[in-house]
Amino acid sequence: MCGIVGYIGNKNAYPILIKGLKRLEYRGYDSAGVALLNSKNELNIYKTKGKVSDLENFVADKDCSGTVGIAHTRWATHGEPNKINAHPHCSNSKNIALIHNGIIENYADLKEKLIQKGIEFKSDTDTEIIVHLIEYLLQKHNTNLLSAVQLALSSVVGAYAIAVLDKNNPDTIIAARKSSPLVVGIGEDEFFIASDASPIVEYTKKVIYLDNEEIACIRRGEEIKFINLKNIEVQHEIQEVLLDIGQLEKGGYAHFMLKEIFEQPACINNCMKGRVNVAHDNIKLSAVIDYQEKLVNAKRIIILACGTSWHSGLIGKYLLETYCQIPVEVEYASEFRYRNSVVGENDVVIAISQSGETADTLAAIELAKAKGAFIFGICNAVGSSIPRATHTGAYIHVGPEIGVASTKAFSGQVTVLAMLAMALGRSKNTISEKDYFEIIQELANIPQKMEKVLQLNEEIADLAKIFTYAKNFIYLGRGYCFPVALEGALKLKEISYIHAEGYPAAEMKHGPIALIDDEMPVVFIATNNALYEKVVSNMQEVKARKGRIIAIISEGDTKLNDIADFCIEVPQTLECLEPLITTIPLQLMAYHIAVCKGKNVDQPRNLAKSVTVE
Ligand code: M6R
Repeated sequence: MCGIVGYIGNKNAYPILIKGLKRLEYRGYDSAGVALLNSKNELNIYKTKGKVSDLENFVADKDCSGTVGIAHTRWATHGEPNKINAHPHCSNSKNIALIHNGIIENYADLKEKLIQKGIEFKSDTDTEIIVHLIEYLLQKHNTNLLSAVQLALSSVVGAYAIAVLDKNNPDTIIAARKSSPLVVGIGEDEFFIASDASPIVEYTKKVIYLDNEEIACIRRGEEIKFINLKNIEVQHEIQEVLLDIGQLEKGGYAHFMLKEIFEQPACINNCMKGRVNVAHDNIKLSAVIDYQEKLVNAKRIIILACGTSWHSGLIGKYLLETYCQIPVEVEYASEFRYRNSVVGENDVVIAISQSGETADTLAAIELAKAKGAFIFGICNAVGSSIPRATHTGAYIHVGPEIGVASTKAFSGQVTVLAMLAMALGRSKNTISEKDYFEIIQELANIPQKMEKVLQLNEEIADLAKIFTYAKNFIYLGRGYCFPVALEGALKLKEISYIHAEGYPAAEMKHGPIALIDDEMPVVFIATNNALYEKVVSNMQEVKARKGRIIAIISEGDTKLNDIADFCIEVPQTLECLEPLITTIPLQLMAYHIAVCKGKNVDQPRNLAKSVTVE
């Protein structure tokens, strides 16, 4: 979703802002813009519909000088993607420019009041009210910019991360946030602001994450001042970002998604480092040690997440119920937050999020916390809002995920959930020694087995060519592989725009079987596990109706060659760890089908990487 970048220092701001916008492209957007204050104190604002490269072409012959500026990529919510609705928005005097990520819920009300006061609006956005409100309050109260921003933000309801530039305060950027992310980078005589640290790390590793309802007053040559909406000055410790610039680049791969699929063995090793100790036959998660009592005594676990993270949550349910004997509910955060959900002090909530910024998940956490639940976060983005809102948790440590379609984060989440189930099951004495030791040994083998699956890349690329024609797909699996079916279908639909449905295989005969004919590709996850024979029966039912079967099978299984049209053989593993192996061919298949169809794999239409609005 919308990306924010700002710079103030002694360098030319424009190249830094453009590079920053490119680093944020992965978030998803449909228009871009920049505002710069030049040495003559002229405020130049340029905006275009489309990509950051379109903006670059547009400004090629324009004045882009200035050592202070703000820039934005917009993901449309209020008003279609066009030049007028793109940010920065400007006050009527043309003195103030503003960029915004989030949604102002009471914008219609505020707009009406400002129109009555004679203020003209140009766009359909909710954002524009903020810039007019700031200017109106500046004049009405004859006050300074910081106070006007403070007053304006006290009147808005909703989510925001904003940055403000003012001709009358040429050496200042004012930035603020509530429920949308914002980070400030501190360099040598220069400051940066951004939606996440990726546009900043190239210049400085020193950052400060703003908290909700906080404003940063960033002045050239001065220390940053942080103040909240109640006018109380806030102190922040500077943090160090552990992000390597190489992680933000494609490293020779055609797309970030492919790079991230191929990174999975290394990511899983990283995720288990210092946690899974094969030599000593144990798994240690610091959160389980520190909060053992709270976790062991949980009467119920509620897993909250969205999208792919919700799918890994389903696998978590199977793991935690099996090995910890705790009832687990898996909820869409967006549904949970608007239900009168029954949550109490004996509940542990596990919130799963790659970005750590998903608005629905964050709101659901706050709700559960207010009702007394203990919150355990499983996140990737270090320092993001969700880990800061939880009582404890475990990072998945898979590195930045840039492709909009989540791949390595899914594997990291499943790995953390498996480690959590092991550590907690051991503490509760609900897992047998045999299972515990076997799973530890096998977790250590997973990266190597993933490497083997990745060797199937060419084979899967060829298979993808055959199915580029398809208009629909069905994915079927049972047990631990049912969430894999859901995830396979989600991957395909989001990047190739082919309609795909995931189902528990046995559920097919309760409806979806009506869809099966000789044009319907059906993907089965049919590995050698306790439910194998059942899945084979479901496969026969599809075969009888001439469906085209692609089966993910265990190495050496020859039984399915006669039933399935295409078989993809993957290494055998323990049933509870199968999702770590069987998801990879589905990720590769979705990737190659989307490439064959000429789609923008890393930035699919309408999607955002970080869903910071509800
Ligand atoms: O950052 P989160 O894990 O909270 O994001 C949740 C979903 O938005 C995300 O998984 C989405 O479904 C992906 N595009 C799936 O590939």
